[in-house]
Amino acid sequence: MELDSNTYRRRSWAEPWKIKMVEHVKMTTYEERKKALVEAGFNTFLLRSGDVYIDLLTDSGTNAMSDRQWAGLMLGDEAYAGSENYYHLEDAIQKYYGYKYLVPTHQGRGAENIISRILIKQGDIVPGNMYFTTTRLHQELSGGTFKDIIIDEAHDPESEYPFKGNVDLAKLDALVDEYGANRISYVSIATTVNMAGGQPISLANLRELRAYCLQHGIRIIHDMTRVAENAWFIKQREEGYADKSVAEIVKEICSLTDGATMSAKKDALVNIGGFLAVNDYDIFEEARNLVVVYEGLHTYGGMSGRDMEAVAIGIEESVQDDHIRSRVGQVEYLGNRLLAHDIPIVKPVGSHGVFLDAKKFLPHVPQISFPAQALAAAIYLDSGIRTMERGIVSAGRDKLTGDHYYPKLELVRLTIPRRVYTQAHMDVVVESILEVFDQRNRVLGLKMVYEPKYLRFFQARFESLG
Ligand SMILES: Cc1ncc(COP(=O)(O)O)c(C=O)c1O
Repeated sequence: MELDSNTYRRRSWAEPWKIKMVEHVKMTTYEERKKALVEAGFNTFLLRSGDVYIDLLTDSGTNAMSDRQWAGLMLGDEAYAGSENYYHLEDAIQKYYGYKYLVPTHQGRGAENIISRILIKQGDIVPGNMYFTTTRLHQELSGGTFKDIIIDEAHDPESEYPFKGNVDLAKLDALVDEYGANRISYVSIATTVNMAGGQPISLANLRELRAYCLQHGIRIIHDMTRVAENAWFIKQREEGYADKSVAEIVKEICSLTDGATMSAKKDALVNIGGFLAVNDYDIFEEARNLVVVYEGLHTYGGMSGRDMEAVAIGIEESVQDDHIRSRVGQVEYLGNRLLAHDIPIVKPVGSHGVFLDAKKFLPHVPQISFPAQALAAAIYLDSGIRTMERGIVSAGRDKLTGDHYYPKLELVRLTIPRRVYTQAHMDVVVESILEVFDQRNRVLGLKMVYEPKYLRFFQARFESLG
């Protein structure tokens, strides 16, 4: 008998793994949640995780590691210098991403700090496909000014454009005209674009960008935090890639850039870790020198040997088609269920989470009353599900005028940790969002009563307006 079973035609996205160990979570009462929320100043970052039932705050460092990764921890070579695990990690980065040189860091922002210090001069411009909080802050602290060159569709939650992470080359060209190519430190390209809702960039767009940058002598630095997830969307949506593997597409993406910062806490399936990877030896030399100032010796950065081993194994697991298919499939499942109930979310559903459109969800709450922050608080109060604000609080203030940035996107991110929650958990999330939607008129917004200077969303405190 012959069956053509090599395609996924009718198969669901079910997980290519089974559960070996479980962690109990606390089911709280409404009164317990109310108390916890007030104590946390209506900021989900300030909740104790013991008071959380389903934790969708972030996909960062919240991954479940595989048995192979846990076994890898036992192979940690904790030598101060020249750990074997550093070389395993270097091999994995060269093999799966194709970058030549590795500088390990404790997480993504450690790498952002180093590359910003090396490549950005006072007064420089750093164009990118939408800002990311820590990335932009490091660019600014090094004297640069971030400029958004993402396509307009990315700022429209309703637009179904398949590659909302694409760069608008006309916007980049206008910056080159205005400031000159020598004042552009590099183009900062994220795969996928977190703040746009986990939206991918296409290879066609990246190739065009590469050609433009080569012509003008501008580097591309790749925030590759979710590169495998971006590759999956390319495989699904971009002509000519259906038969390529995620691993092949990942390598092609990386080959169009000069270097990368990585928060391994996402795609690479670990709980801590990151790195800077570059192709230029001189930049590597400088980075290797700076890393000892800010992170640790150049063969461990901020990581222990066992952490580096887990990242090396995680990288290999992260580029497997079956893994990514189920990872993104679970996010799509949640998004599609919410869409079926007409809940306003960013479309198309992104890679690492579902993003609620708080402006549409709570049209009666003005942006200055922090609708996304208030919505995240209301969801926690309803069910103990923790989500994250990605709107005016996250956007922070203009470094020159001191005014709030008023981003077009005012979102609540339901971020799905990798390999952690089940489909039944996703169903509970849907039930809670529907409940809050039914009662949305009771959510009146917040007042900020404490505002930290840097990355205020992490520690700001609020009071309820009613
Ligand atoms: C797109 C993107 N870039 C950079 C970072 C920073 O990485 P880390 O949190 O590991 O410092 C993150 C993490 O949230 C991210 O999502």
